[in-house]
Amino acid sequence: MFKLSPHHISHPRVSVIGAGNVGSTLAQRIVEKNLADVILLDVVSSRAQGIALDLTQAGALENHDRQVIGTDDYQLTKDSDVIVITAGVPRKEGMSRDDLLKINAKIVTEVTLKAIAHSPNAVIITVTNPLDVMTYLVWKVSGFAPNKVMGMAGILDASRFQAFIAMELGISMNNITAMVMGGHGDLMVPLPRYSTVSGVPITELLATETITRLVERTRNGGAEIVRLLQKGSAYFAPASATYLMVESILQNRRRILPVAAYLQGEYGLSGLFMGVPAQLGTDGVNSVVEIDLSEVELKALHTSASSVRQNIQKLTGILER
Ligand code: APR
Repeated sequence: MFKLSPHHISHPRVSVIGAGNVGSTLAQRIVEKNLADVILLDVVSSRAQGIALDLTQAGALENHDRQVIGTDDYQLTKDSDVIVITAGVPRKEGMSRDDLLKINAKIVTEVTLKAIAHSPNAVIITVTNPLDVMTYLVWKVSGFAPNKVMGMAGILDASRFQAFIAMELGISMNNITAMVMGGHGDLMVPLPRYSTVSGVPITELLATETITRLVERTRNGGAEIVRLLQKGSAYFAPASATYLMVESILQNRRRILPVAAYLQGEYGLSGLFMGVPAQLGTDGVNSVVEIDLSEVELKALHTSASSVRQNIQKLTGILER
């Protein structure tokens, strides 16, 4: 007979709030790479339980031994190292962006308060849209230090740009880096000068019109997928992008990744969360990295920031309640 040791190995814990498409795909990525145990929480408890059980049953086949728990009970999220918030509703026909903002603000406020009550030292990653303003809201209602809160968007937008560059040139994605800054919306700022093929900026490899076309496709990357899927929005790449953030935090990898981070004077901007390159480690955002921007690039970044600020203004009533 095998002798079972009572020794208990503890793994890092990640709570994913919202067991929808992004949340469940992220849970899959995390456990299949043996990164952490996952607590998948949804207001529809049986959904979270079903997905957790399904993922658990794939464990032996995928050769992982991390736990996945599905629940609607915040007690089970206790002592999480990272909390990922994907809870929200998608925009439906007839619903304005402002309606969506208000509905998701209510959901995000509620889940943040409940989650932090059990994990006061966690790092929080927001995924729910509209991204930049929801990240600001999480920071405000949590009362956490700004480095402990961030939003996922830049890595996703950059990976879309990378994919389009790779497709255009017929070169492996592995050779391509891309940088996208600004808010996660139509005014995001893809930066061709900082997007490279094996270190060579794409501005030296592609015609200006081609770059403009790829930049536009990147800006509309989310909408293109919504149109094709006909129901729901992208989730494979969003889950992969979130995974990279969780990994850099839990393993203290100190990777520099574009994320929505709190700005305190960097790029001449303060008091908002927006996409910038940032170094991620155990404490969350170790530092925001300031790269040199041309006048045109900086102006585009400030235009994007104004639109993020307009959304933050819309929280006034919500935050004061
Ligand atoms: N508490 C917990 N879970 C909630 C709550 C709540 N108060 N309200 C909604 N949810 C859950 C829903 O039950 C659903 O399972 O959030 C989940 C959202 O999942 P999907 O609708 O499948 O959305 P998804 O594609 O995963 O996207 C999630 O990420 O990229 C963004 O725009 C996207 O804001 C959206 C979010």
